[in-house]
Amino acid sequence: MQGTRKVTDDIVWVGCNDRRLALFENLFPIPRGVSYNSYLIMDEKVALMDTVDASVTGQFMENLEYVLAGRGIDYLVVQHMEPDHCANIEELMKRYPDMQVVANTKTVQMIHQFFDVESDGRVTLVKEGDTLSTGEHTLRFVMAPMVHWPEVMVTYDEKDKILFSADAFGTFGALDGNIFNDEIDFEKDWLSEARRYYSNIVGKYGVQVQSLLKKAAALDVAMICPLHGPVWRSSLGFFIDKYDKWSRYEPEEDSVVLIYGSIYGHTEAAVNSLACRLADAGVKGIKVYDASSTHVSDLIAEIFRCSHVVLACATYNGGIYPPIENLLSDMKALSVQKRTVALMDNGTWAPAAGRMIVKRLEEMKDITVLEQLSIKSVLREDRAEDLETFARKIVEAM
Ligand code: FEO
Repeated sequence: MQGTRKVTDDIVWVGCNDRRLALFENLFPIPRGVSYNSYLIMDEKVALMDTVDASVTGQFMENLEYVLAGRGIDYLVVQHMEPDHCANIEELMKRYPDMQVVANTKTVQMIHQFFDVESDGRVTLVKEGDTLSTGEHTLRFVMAPMVHWPEVMVTYDEKDKILFSADAFGTFGALDGNIFNDEIDFEKDWLSEARRYYSNIVGKYGVQVQSLLKKAAALDVAMICPLHGPVWRSSLGFFIDKYDKWSRYEPEEDSVVLIYGSIYGHTEAAVNSLACRLADAGVKGIKVYDASSTHVSDLIAEIFRCSHVVLACATYNGGIYPPIENLLSDMKALSVQKRTVALMDNGTWAPAAGRMIVKRLEEMKDITVLEQLSIKSVLREDRAEDLETFARKIVEAM
């Protein structure tokens, strides 16, 4: 049974959802699943914008056959070669022998790396600014390298002013029939997963996202059709503004996220006290996370949200407690920058994690490290003033 929706009179969403996959990229928990979006342009010529993941091929083929209703596919536009979108290229080339694959040079190279296919006579090569007419629609190709792979391009439909944006403007989360942003409460129900998707999947490539945003700003965009998550047909500025902030590594909020690595709960207790002192001082939007039980992708997303970060860490094997070590590695890999970080460390023999964390933070760009608070085993009432001072320094830095 087909599960498709019309995007315009002649453009149809033929994407699919996967609610069984536990880990996206075998790495990121996706408790709400994920959608793999694909769009059919039913013009004088038929163009398909990308394919879907191998896990949903069966549903995808049903969707295609239903919408095509006996017609063939003239063009398959391949915007991105990550397997969650390219998995069905070979199968479609077999099923539709007259279909041209529309791609750039890097993409064609990757098609040959992934698939044992004969591409002679099957490929229409495109580069920056090239156009393809399907009849009423004219598709213009815009290269977007490293958003999120080197071969990525996006496509602008001049007729309906649609930006087919590849991974950009995507989110985790399966689509529950309501595929449009104005059919859901995005800010309430989707924004945190969108932030987690952006910061962890594309976060490293802020510079490249900025250059795509500049190119997109020169286009008159009325709708954004990404490869994951909702289609945007209103309030585009809301999401574009988020992407602009995220890709410039500017925090969304003046607030504090406190992340702790605590072996027996003493570091955790100190963090809870600090959170109360920060709240007393008027800080809003505070969040406290246990690095041992919170996936690092959630921690990264919260660091993208907040201007200030508290890292509280027990000393373990004379070094940094492993969940915090893992977070620091991810922060560096994802180019986290422009944040103010306050440190708490703890140790029963000798607190050492703090100075080691400082070294790791110094390897990152534009991170301001505030003075640190060291704890010997337990933060007791006789150090209440130290905690007050520590909280005050964070607030003064906000
Ligand atoms: Fe959704 Fe980079 O693939």
